[in-house]
Amino acid sequence: MSYISYRHVDKAFGPQVICRDFNLDIEKGERVCIIGPSGVGKTVTIKMLIGLIDPDAGEIYFDGQNLCALRRDEDFLPVRKRIAMVFQGAALFDSMTVFDNVAYGLRKFNLPEGELQDKVEEKLSWVGLKEAIDKMPEELSGGMKKRVGLARAIATDPEVVLYDEPTAGLDPINTVRIVDLILALQERLKSTAIVVTHDIPSVIRMSTQVAFLYQGQIRALGPIRELMEHSDPFVRGFLTADPSLTDILV
Ligand SMILES: Nc1ncnc2c1ncn2[C@@H]1O[C@H](COP(=O)(O)OP(=O)(O)O)[C@@H](O)[C@H]1O
Ligand SMILES: [Mg+2]
Repeated sequence: MSYISYRHVDKAFGPQVICRDFNLDIEKGERVCIIGPSGVGKTVTIKMLIGLIDPDAGEIYFDGQNLCALRRDEDFLPVRKRIAMVFQGAALFDSMTVFDNVAYGLRKFNLPEGELQDKVEEKLSWVGLKEAIDKMPEELSGGMKKRVGLARAIATDPEVVLYDEPTAGLDPINTVRIVDLILALQERLKSTAIVVTHDIPSVIRMSTQVAFLYQGQIRALGPIRELMEHSDPFVRGFLTADPSLTDILV
């Protein structure tokens, strides 16, 4: 069985179908970019992996364990240590220092204070912000805030990191910086990355696999170069931003 495996997952909000017999397999160490039109369910799909949204039917396996069998929040705690998510916007707590922001997720795991301090410093050095440890978020640039958000997410040394539009709102140079940081962090952690992004240059730079989500299912899966030449003009059109090939309704 694959490291991460969505099996026949259904999810709807009232009449709005998000996933219908959704299947996706991800192997350890991959960097999978999930792409697709806005509102198609990319965020919902990754949130199901950390138990923030429950599927209506089907199974989601992580390292041999069926996550859908975990019902209570406490049961999910060990999984949340192993799978981290960088939320869209990656908002920091404005009233907390950078240190406390990064320490936040770790505190649930009751580490000794010395170990907590070491972990926070290590993660901040990984994102190149050790000197900002006592700063408040308002003193940081947008790119720096995103880097603190990454440090916070990886504080527990997760095996899988989920990134929800990690470069949204950044200029092209800071976008490349964040993508390179995602690659560097993955190398250090020996982790698996799932990245929701609209930015095709970022997909080209970082993905080992691309999953194109549309109408409740993965419509295409493969390396970016293959998807750009996909037989389905809809997939090709989306990736090459050619509206004449797609019929996405906006
Ligand atoms: N908790 C929720 N309750 C109701 N509807 C939701 C919830 N979360 C997401 N949705 C809806 O599901 C659809 C897909 O959302 P989302 O996964 O955020 O799309 P995207 O592909 O842009 O990330 C949207 O129409 C959104 O409004
Ligand atoms: Mg989203």
